[in-house]
Amino acid sequence: PEATEPTYVDGVLIANKKYPLPKTFQPGEDVDARAAFELMAGDARKAGFEIVAFSTYRSYEYQQTLYNNYVERDGKENADRYSARPGYSEHQTGLAFDIGEVGREDLWLTSEFGETEAGKWLVNNAHKYGFILRYPQGKEKITGYMYESWHFRYLGIQLATDVKKSSLTLEEYLGIQ
Ligand code: DAL
Ligand code: ZN
Repeated sequence: PEATEPTYVDGVLIANKKYPLPKTFQPGEDVDARAAFELMAGDARKAGFEIVAFSTYRSYEYQQTLYNNYVERDGKENADRYSARPGYSEHQTGLAFDIGEVGREDLWLTSEFGETEAGKWLVNNAHKYGFILRYPQGKEKITGYMYESWHFRYLGIQLATDVKKSSLTLEEYLGIQ
């Protein structure tokens, strides 16, 4: 069944396997999230890393194309572990940023990125700018997705810091797993 309205839990926009978004929901990239990312990228540069957000807002239609391509490549069962079906992607909220290091494009969309100094810096510092690592290791049963070292969700500094301190996934933190 297609969603007719986006879901907010405690004021937080949710897009996951349980709570899809309407096809017509197309906010574009969130301006606060972009500003926060640019601040973070500036500080990352001072720490010695050049980071880039290589995929942020994605429309329903674009997600459909992406998902279909992954299904064709890997089959549905595999694709569902790392790619959202159209309407179910957090990228459609405009608040999800896929982040990688410039010059290390070979590590974009890989778990190895999480083992680099840049990847580790991000996990440890992103909350200070309002982002959390959305799909941590070992939480597939809860988030619905494999570990994604590159996928960060903007929540604002206060909530991101609280979620980070809790060591919980967003689903667990909000009690919607
Ligand atoms: N890779 C994430 C789960 C997405 O497709 O939204
Ligand atoms: Zn992503």
